[in-house]
Amino acid sequence: MIEFLLNNEIVCLTDINPNTTVLQYLRDQQQRCGTKEGCASGDCGACTVVTVELDAQHTLQYKNINACITLISALHGKQLISIEDLKVEQQLHSTQQAMVDTDGSQCGFCTPGFVMSLFALQKHQSGYDKHAVQQALAGNLCRCTGYRAIDSAAKQALTSPPLDHFDPLADDTRDTLLQLAKNSSACPSIEHQGKICHLPSNIQTLTELLRIHPESTLLAGGTDLAIEVTQHGREFSQLISMLGVSELQQVTITDQQLEIGAAVSLNACQDILRGPFVDFANLLERFASLHVRHTATLAGNIANASPIGDTPPALIALNASLVLRSADQQRTELIEDFFVDYRKTTLQQGEFIEKIIIPIPQQDFHFKVYKVSKRLDDDISAICAAHYLCLDKDNRVSEIRMAYGGMAAIAKRASHTEAALLGELWNQATVDKALLHLSTDFQPLSDFRASDQYRLRCAQNLLHKFFLETQATIDVTTGAIKMRISDYV
Ligand SMILES: Cc1cc2nc3c(=O)[nH]c(=O)nc-3n(C[C@H](O)[C@H](O)[C@H](O)COP(=O)(O)OP(=O)(O)OC[C@H]3O[C@@H](n4cnc5c(N)ncnc54)[C@H](O)[C@@H]3O)c2cc1C
Ligand code: FES
Ligand code: FES
Repeated sequence: MIEFLLNNEIVCLTDINPNTTVLQYLRDQQQRCGTKEGCASGDCGACTVVTVELDAQHTLQYKNINACITLISALHGKQLISIEDLKVEQQLHSTQQAMVDTDGSQCGFCTPGFVMSLFALQKHQSGYDKHAVQQALAGNLCRCTGYRAIDSAAKQALTSPPLDHFDPLADDTRDTLLQLAKNSSACPSIEHQGKICHLPSNIQTLTELLRIHPESTLLAGGTDLAIEVTQHGREFSQLISMLGVSELQQVTITDQQLEIGAAVSLNACQDILRGPFVDFANLLERFASLHVRHTATLAGNIANASPIGDTPPALIALNASLVLRSADQQRTELIEDFFVDYRKTTLQQGEFIEKIIIPIPQQDFHFKVYKVSKRLDDDISAICAAHYLCLDKDNRVSEIRMAYGGMAAIAKRASHTEAALLGELWNQATVDKALLHLSTDFQPLSDFRASDQYRLRCAQNLLHKFFLETQATIDVTTGAIKMRISDYV
């Protein structure tokens, strides 16, 4: 049985197909049809709802998510708020009123989704911040109103918002969520006509389940798996959700390394990475949308093994490794060895990614990662290129790792190019010679995202860009970027 709060009412579900999405549940079983279905693939935000959960300090965290690609099991222990819950009698919520006042809606199909994203933002953000608004709304598309009016709505909604009817109930909600967590068994499950999803709460139960059912499909945020259900009509018969496994939610930060548990969301990873690897955190701002990052995990992105996944190139360049675990063993593997062939990894049946370990460099380093896609927000990469470089006191390359996505069947290092750089002076002439080796390292494919020639030229240009950026210094008085031209002409 899973238990959650539907607004303020506790719902217990036992007999339900685990392939049911939150959107289907709301519309078909709860007749809450205010939440719309547009694309059913996480791309438009029409289905946006808000989940509320407790963080480690027991503070309520409001998250906008895509109901269309969230499987029902993800609601266990949370509060679910849909658009119907915002209005009280005839009184619109301040986010709804803002959309009315600023003419933020025309056909109205996208409007419930925008309102829910604004509502979640309003709960964390006081005062208008353009960047925060863009991040919060990047996963919501509007075909007719235009974003200026919606931005004005955001301004109104975030400037001195009045208390709403959720605020006085915050303590009750917190207590109920704590009680739900306390009541939950070690391994709740839902099942319907032979299709089952287990939700283990600790690693021992997880490994035991995998010993008994090694053929199970592991479910994390479900942002890849649910697409199989909504776009390809697939039904999983045996799912094991990783999200509630307490050990997999852990993050450990030392001077030497970051350890990120497999159930940690990409949004949480962004905060963790911002300290040592700001460019990695910035890359994640362009990973899908905030809706997706609220549920998707780093481990899911790795295990999915897509050649155009955004995080593998960065992790390879940072020399990250994976702790892989099964009922019988635990092993550690460099992430660059994990990818074998197109969507093939070294993961064995009954094994799972337990955590990702990223070493923190102990000397000065340059790290840059570039994502090239047709659109800035919420788009898949044509190419993703990550570069890690250390220079010795004579300006020679003492360490270099360059990893590319979108250039081969797997994310992989440019080993010939690296060899041409290692030990050489880091200057324009060396880089010009080295970038010719990229055509030995990669023979990319043409597809609707980019041609083979574009990909290769782009990879070369990105190495050049990296070189130029390592030459940049910042004038602390003006903030202007200065290039040390003499170093590369
Ligand atoms: C609208 C949209 C936009 C997207 N944009 C991007 C993007 O910009 N860049 C990008 O790289 N990807 C993108 N994706 C893909 C997807 O969001 C990511 O791959 C995400 O990180 C998957 O994580 P998840 O937790 O949702 O994985 P899930 O869907 O739960 O699982 C993915 C796969 O990993 C396996 N798995 C999950 N956890 C583990 C584990 N701990 N051990 C072993 N196997 C495991 C599952 O069995 C499954 O095969 C996008 C997806 C959508 C729907
Ligand atoms: S319906 Fe388009 S994101 Fe869910
Ligand atoms: S108002 Fe029509 S799609 Fe946004």
